[in-house]
Amino acid sequence: MPEEKKVSEFLAYIVAALSNCALYSDKHPAVEEFSRKALAILEGLFVDDVLNLTVLAESIIFNDTPLSDISMHTYTFIKKLRVKGIDRLVIKKGVSLEELHSFIKTLASREEAVSSSPNIAIGVLEVRFKAEGDASAIMEESIARVKEVYDGVSRFRRLDVHGLEDVVVRFITALKREASMLSNLNPVREHSLYTYVHEANVSVLTIFQAEALGLSGELLHDAGLAGLLHDVGKLFIPKEIIEKQAELDESEWNIIKLHPVYGALYLSKMQDVPELAVVAAYEHHMKYNGMGYPQSKRRLTSHHLISQLVAISDFFDALRTQRAYRPSFGLSAIIGFLREGSGTDFNPVLVDNFLLSLKRIKAV
Ligand SMILES: [Fe+2]
Ligand SMILES: [Fe+2]
Repeated sequence: MPEEKKVSEFLAYIVAALSNCALYSDKHPAVEEFSRKALAILEGLFVDDVLNLTVLAESIIFNDTPLSDISMHTYTFIKKLRVKGIDRLVIKKGVSLEELHSFIKTLASREEAVSSSPNIAIGVLEVRFKAEGDASAIMEESIARVKEVYDGVSRFRRLDVHGLEDVVVRFITALKREASMLSNLNPVREHSLYTYVHEANVSVLTIFQAEALGLSGELLHDAGLAGLLHDVGKLFIPKEIIEKQAELDESEWNIIKLHPVYGALYLSKMQDVPELAVVAAYEHHMKYNGMGYPQSKRRLTSHHLISQLVAISDFFDALRTQRAYRPSFGLSAIIGFLREGSGTDFNPVLVDNFLLSLKRIKAV
């Protein structure tokens, strides 16, 4: 069997084991069975006693050779690694079934971080970011990354989702380490940076809310990505309207109101964008009572939970920013507005979750 095919098969067994962990439990016999099959193929893949797997953008490189055919299971494997912040894997000859099995179990787990074992070394993405630790530095760097990706957006070009996935992983890790990340949400200093800063802030706020609700793993990751991409449709609205330094008239508003549709349409064509991000881009201006836009015949909480979280983050962040026609609001005023809108504009359970979590970290 050619080398590349063997790697693909190895990954297919790993993904089958991962799926069984998710479907049943990591103790299910199928998990061990697939781990065993993966190990059998692995034996033939070592070069100088190691197998090197590096995740690069949307591809995977094994021992210096890029995998040319990215199948569904390879994509799933890449995504699993990304969600855990892993971009490199070195497996050494001599790896035992127990080691591989336990690597698969932690990779499948929503909570546990994957750590290196004697024969499986993990490379973590952290090193790709220059800034270490400091929350405001993380924000600065992430905003630059969002700008870079957004600058590349056009109807005819693919979106560099992976550039944004790194940002999300970074936000999740930073929020876990220090809740003060939230007080480091950037105020917008330069008007031209508004969109990127806003997308980054909404992402952090959405992860914060989602985590407080108990979301974790891939779902939490996708919620962060949904926050980062919620307003991507604004890139297809004329700049004069987006950047207008005065209140918009009705016809301009009607154009702005198309951004959820443009965003969802654009994202739906991108292969690697999770569906959740497409849905949130479409629904983030829908209100809890069925009003808002795009207009929908559905009523009350029938739109996605993540869209409802993004709506709260969006509202919160937008009010913090000064506009030509209104001042920026302080935290207590914004909380007052959120309470006022609870039950009509916003899901009351989610407003309570947000406000209680802010209290818990002593942000209010
Ligand atoms: Fe929006
Ligand atoms: Fe927004």
